[in-house]
Amino acid sequence: MNKPMSPSCERNKDPILEVMKEVITEDNHVLLEVGSGTGQHAVYLAPHFPHVKWITSDVLGNHAGIKMWLDEAKVPNIARPIEFKIGKDEFPKVVVDLVFTANTFHIMHWKECKTLMKMWGHRLREGAQVMIYGPFNYNGTFSSPSNEQFDRSLKVEDPLRGIRSYDDVHNNMVKNGFALCKDYEMPANNRMLVYRRLEFVSQK
Ligand SMILES: C[S@@+](CC[C@H](N)C(=O)[O-])C[C@H]1O[C@@H](n2cnc3c(N)ncnc32)[C@H](O)[C@@H]1O
Repeated sequence: MNKPMSPSCERNKDPILEVMKEVITEDNHVLLEVGSGTGQHAVYLAPHFPHVKWITSDVLGNHAGIKMWLDEAKVPNIARPIEFKIGKDEFPKVVVDLVFTANTFHIMHWKECKTLMKMWGHRLREGAQVMIYGPFNYNGTFSSPSNEQFDRSLKVEDPLRGIRSYDDVHNNMVKNGFALCKDYEMPANNRMLVYRRLEFVSQK
């Protein structure tokens, strides 16, 4: 098997790094990456935050590729991938300060996106931050003709894939106990949505 390569990761890794430098603090010690894909983001980004243990995760089918990147890069603060398929697996049994997920919301079915956001609401401690990178629609419209075309191509592969509405994501995050810290504009009509887990409020 050849080492997998994602050209888009090479293009977006530096803009993502700049946002992470604003978001990740010295008090953050564990980051869970959901849907690590090839592992390229982990290998590039984790060395910039040596005090953070970076846990990769994905569906089992991607683990071999991720391990190839990790074995070659030998970055001491990256953990080998955890099997985490949303809709099938429980949330990993680790206490995390940060979650990062890139380009997963338009691939996962909306039901799986909602499951993931619900898990974050149940499992993340107060103050934990979630970074969601990817394209989103605003006010019911695509942010660019290329995003509209991309959405069409996603739906050809699987009709339940597609660029999600920012409002739908935001409303679900709020419902699950998160507040938006910042919606970063990123190159190529992408966004980085950064949320913070609020205090748990008793429903009594
Ligand atoms: C377009 S790739 C993005 C990979 C990487 N994060 C990146 O930005 O290059 C989408 C990723 O979502 C993962 N994914 C899709 N459905 C998933 C699910 N139900 N649970 C966990 N990961 C899923 C895929 O395995 C894949 O790694």
